[in-house]
Formats: sequence, structure tokens, C-alpha cells
Amino acid sequence: MKEIFIDLKERSYKIQIDRGILFEIGKKLQEIGNYNKVVIITDKNVGSFYLKDLEETLLKENYLVYSVEIEAGEKSKNLNEAEKIYNKLIEFKITRGDLIITLGGGVVGDLGGFVASTFLRGIDFIQVPTSLLSQIDSSIGGKVAVDLASGKNMVGSFYQPKAVFIDPNLLNTLPTLYLHDGLGEAIKCSCIRDKNLFELFEKIKDDKEILERSEDIIEACCMVKKKVVENDEFDKGERMILNFGHTIGHSIEKNYHYETYTHGQCVSIGMCKITKASEKLGITEEGSFEKIKKVLEKFSLPTDDVLDKKIILDGISTDKKNFGTKINLIVLNKIGDGKILKIDSSDLEKYI
Ligand code: GLY
Repeated sequence: MKEIFIDLKERSYKIQIDRGILFEIGKKLQEIGNYNKVVIITDKNVGSFYLKDLEETLLKENYLVYSVEIEAGEKSKNLNEAEKIYNKLIEFKITRGDLIITLGGGVVGDLGGFVASTFLRGIDFIQVPTSLLSQIDSSIGGKVAVDLASGKNMVGSFYQPKAVFIDPNLLNTLPTLYLHDGLGEAIKCSCIRDKNLFELFEKIKDDKEILERSEDIIEACCMVKKKVVENDEFDKGERMILNFGHTIGHSIEKNYHYETYTHGQCVSIGMCKITKASEKLGITEEGSFEKIKKVLEKFSLPTDDVLDKKIILDGISTDKKNFGTKINLIVLNKIGDGKILKIDSSDLEKYI
């Protein structure tokens, strides 16, 4: 088993990564708190594979177990769905001494975490991420949120889980598209902070090998996230480094109404566009763009798109993160070494 301690003072917790850990969660809960009732929040897809297993490990340790299954997909990540879950929690007579476990990908983790952070002004929760994207990114660091019609993640907070249990075996049922989606973010982690991980991606031949090496990949990405989150829990400085590829990526994602590409695919295009430009501007070590492109292509991730530059620029300037005259762009000095570059919005064009 691999264990990573996220050191955030009284909000600290452990990430435990192990094949088959899903079946041990009942036993492990005793180390975390003295809970009586446990509510599992999951979606119907993930639930059909793993809900019974999680319920059984908890029942074996005599917890009172309740489950809420939402529809899978981003359309569930809203205040209406949150309210439905609050009403379920009231029906189950959940108190502040009880526990929520989120079993699923980013949507379930963000929505379930948001509910945990607000119900009765906050009850404990644990993340059991099931997609690669959530195992390496969204389940760690305490960002919880729901979407509004006006934009993604517009309402939320920083609310750390009490533990994160990652079972790499759960990736065996993840559709290839979403394995690659997660790899977009994993490759991003390697580009900004971990050259060795990037070299591992260069060596790995195919998805089969990714699944075989998934424990190492997840651990390496979680280590990147640990360091960044510990230095900047509330996303006011260094945490922005995690947005490599995201400024352009978000704009593309939004322009296609979140339908044409997955998030990881847009990050992939974003990383390529910005690195190609920053290399030309002499900021990034020569040859980085080609190396990144090659690795992304191996995992069927797109590296370019036909959208007009002007449309991408408009999308960036209407993003809530970029209001104002200055924009924080993430660029690489070289692979494994990213930095935040503050530029004037008027110069943005040069970086796309
Ligand atoms: N997913 C980016 C962050 O946690 O800040």
C-alpha cells in the first residue's frame, strides 16, 4: 500500500492507494472517526459496479448504511440535485456526527463534497474516487462545488475530506475515453513538476501498461498535488500551477458546450498550444512541444483544434478566472518545471 499524508494542520488527512482497498474501507473507518451512520453518494454507473461492495464492507463492521444514487454526468452537479440529497439526509436522520462517503468520479466527489460541506454547516466526508481524473486530481485538495447555468463550479468551497481511499483496480471498468481523459491531467502533472513521471509516460507503450503501472502513476500525481496544495490550500498563488493547459483548454471546452471534448482532451490541446507558443517566444526549452505532443498522441489525446484564435481569446476573457487586466498563464521552463507567468491581457494573443 502507498500512503501520502496531506499536511494541512487540523485539516490534514491521508491518501491510501492500494489494489482492493475498496473492500477494506469498513475496517479502515475506525482509524478515522467514531461514526454510526454512513451515507454513500454515488452515481448510477459507478453504483452498478461498486456500490454493493462498499455497502458490504461497511455493514460487516456494523455501520448503519444508506445510499443515494444520482444520474451520472455533469448535468447532476447543481443546486437542485444538492437539495434532493439534503432531503435524503434529513429522511435518514443524519447528524453532524455521521459520515458521507463519495464513491465516483469528479461530479460525485464535487457534489457530494459540497453537500457534506454545507449540510448542518458541515459533516465529515471521505472520497473514494473511481475515475483516473478523480484519483489523481479532483478528490485531493478539498475543492468542492456545484455548477450554475452561468458557469462551472460557480458555488463551492474548500472543504477537505477526512481521508481518500484510492483503489487502482477500479480503473479496469473505466471506459477508454475516460482513462485517456485522466491521462491528460496526469501528463499535465508530469509536465509542471515531475520529469521522471514524464519519462515514464514516454516509455509506457499502451493502456495495458498504464493500468499495470497505475499505482505508481497515481502516487506520483498525488505527490505533485500534495506539495502544491500544502503550499497554497486556498488557491491564491502556487496552486494555479495546476492550471497548465487550462486557460486555453477551458475556452475550447466552453466553445463546444462541453460536448465535443472531455476535460482532459481540452487540457491536452491547451498544453500543446501554449507550449508551442512559449517555445517560440524563447521561454520554454526547445523540443518540449514535440515531446509532449508525442506522449499525448500515444494516448489518443488531441493536440490541436480548428477553432479560430479570436474565438479562443474571447472565451478566455469571459472566464471568471481571467477578469481584469492581468492574466496568470502557466508555462514551462522545461518539462518537469512549470511556472506562473503574469501577463497583460493585451499580450495574450502571443501565447495562443
Ligand atoms: N484541480 C485543480 C485544483 O485542485 O486546484
